[in-house]
Amino acid sequence: MCGIVGYVGKKDNCVRVLIDGLEKLEYRGYDSAGIAYFNGEKINIVKESGKLENLKNIVNFNDQSQIGIGHTRWATHGGAKKQNSHPHKIGKFTIVHNGIIENYANLKNDLIKKGYTFNSDTDTEVACALIDYLYENDKNIANVIKKANEIMIGSYAIGILCDDEPNNLYVIKNKSPLIIGVSEDEKFIASDVPAILDKTDNYISLDDGDYGVITKDNIKLYNSGKEKEFKIQKFEFDADLMDKKGYPHYMLKEIHEQPDVFKKTVNPYINNDFDGLMKKMPDFTKYSKVRIVACGSATHAALVGKQMLEEYGNVKTDVETASEFRYSKPFLNKDELVIVISQSGETADTLEALKLAKDNKNDTLGIINAKGSSIARCSNMVLYTEAGKEIAVATTKAYSAQVAMLSLIALNLSCKKNLISKEEMMDILKSVRNLPNQMQELLDKNDEYEQIAKKLAEHNDIFFIGRKVDYALAQEGSLKLKEISYTHSEAYAAGELKHGTISLIESGTPVIAIVTDDFIAPKTISNMIEVKSRGADVLYITNRNNDEDDKLYDNRIIIPRTHKLFQPLLTIIPLQKIAYEVAKIKGCNIDKPKNLAKSVTVE
Ligand code: AGP
Repeated sequence: MCGIVGYVGKKDNCVRVLIDGLEKLEYRGYDSAGIAYFNGEKINIVKESGKLENLKNIVNFNDQSQIGIGHTRWATHGGAKKQNSHPHKIGKFTIVHNGIIENYANLKNDLIKKGYTFNSDTDTEVACALIDYLYENDKNIANVIKKANEIMIGSYAIGILCDDEPNNLYVIKNKSPLIIGVSEDEKFIASDVPAILDKTDNYISLDDGDYGVITKDNIKLYNSGKEKEFKIQKFEFDADLMDKKGYPHYMLKEIHEQPDVFKKTVNPYINNDFDGLMKKMPDFTKYSKVRIVACGSATHAALVGKQMLEEYGNVKTDVETASEFRYSKPFLNKDELVIVISQSGETADTLEALKLAKDNKNDTLGIINAKGSSIARCSNMVLYTEAGKEIAVATTKAYSAQVAMLSLIALNLSCKKNLISKEEMMDILKSVRNLPNQMQELLDKNDEYEQIAKKLAEHNDIFFIGRKVDYALAQEGSLKLKEISYTHSEAYAAGELKHGTISLIESGTPVIAIVTDDFIAPKTISNMIEVKSRGADVLYITNRNNDEDDKLYDNRIIIPRTHKLFQPLLTIIPLQKIAYEVAKIKGCNIDKPKNLAKSVTVE
């Protein structure tokens, strides 16, 4: 969603600090950007629609300032145009905001009756007017923002400047992420870590309902009218984070990091033995059912996990989309484990779904990549994936780490329920050892992916088909292609095609058939025959090497075989790489696809 930055300190280069911070948050939204800073006389506001580059072209980096706020926008209320860009100023207050103020329409009507006029369609401008209105009756700004916090409903992280207090930076945080970076005589605010990682490695993570005032020397935080203590934590510094290491895009770098990510995620649990697996996971055997709730690619990982948990963990598993689940009757049994999956740990729908499960008194497990994130903090139990921070908006390594973690949970259940033989355990050990090399073998097949991408790039409608775990992978492959190459595609349960969709298959229609599950392979192969006989151009992605399949496809990618628990981690690689190559051919902005954001912290 939107990205917020702020600075108050002894140096005069606030403008540069704000722009640097916004550059590192652009993945959170890039419909428009703006900054506001006190230039010694007044608060100067500079903003522009479009990418951050447009703002940088009009900003005066020589302006001296020691306090300011900045914002990069993912449009929610009001289109991606300059008048809706932040910062917004009304009366004496200038603010930047990430989130959604759900009662903004009523507040706006009330404020219009009180004489306020608005230039934008945003909920943010309404919040600014509310603060200015409350200030007319109370000059203590901490009181004012406390009252605003009580009146506003929804999710918001807000940075505030006031004409009357040019040395003070105010903040409010509720359901949208906000951290305070701390160094001796400089303070920063940011929506996320990357914005300040090169400035300080000390930070304060704000809780919902927190508000406060920050100066270059001091921080005062409050919650519900009482001053609160706070803990200064240290980031785990990762200098490699922003280094593309020679790759043209962060996404390609992150796709190629997957062998290492697999090792970092799996080795604490399986490393020449299964000790870690047995000792480092909670006891999941007591749950009669599992419900996994997530969004986007995390949901697709959950669908892979369902196959593993049911086949190996022998536990009924249902997968729900968080944005649907949170508004439905949960029908959760008391002894049902609710698992939430999120790489960012800040996805609003997933967080609210988690809270619904907790209100229902269910045990909750978070499979999270971002340590200390809101969803991690809210889960009863957490299993962290070790993918490292993802910069590319489209997830790859974090998705595969989620899949690996779900397979580990399934294996943990299988062992604890004595459902797996010693021989198979040995086979699994061998597979885990070999998997990184097999992943690398697939990562290096660039010519094949480029050749296939050339064909796909000429089409606007592409079908992915598969059954069971291969259907789950088809959904992730389809999403990758859609979100980074803007190519429409659909993932279909192969058995469903004949119930209508096959009417869309005509000569040359690209169909990507994923066949890795031996049990169900013959059925999917018959679906390939059905589409082939209607003229489809079939790409066959399989771990089978049967020559009799030859007449069934136009192109084939053979992927290595490994244990079923880890086969999806190989199957996904061609799907990621092909999507990447298609996007490259189409000249898309691969790391920052249009309209998307890395962490969807609004509903
Ligand atoms: C991933 O490529 C997508 N951009 C998106 O679907 C993402 O998976 C989804 O928003 C969930 O994010 P989370 O894992 O941070 O909760």
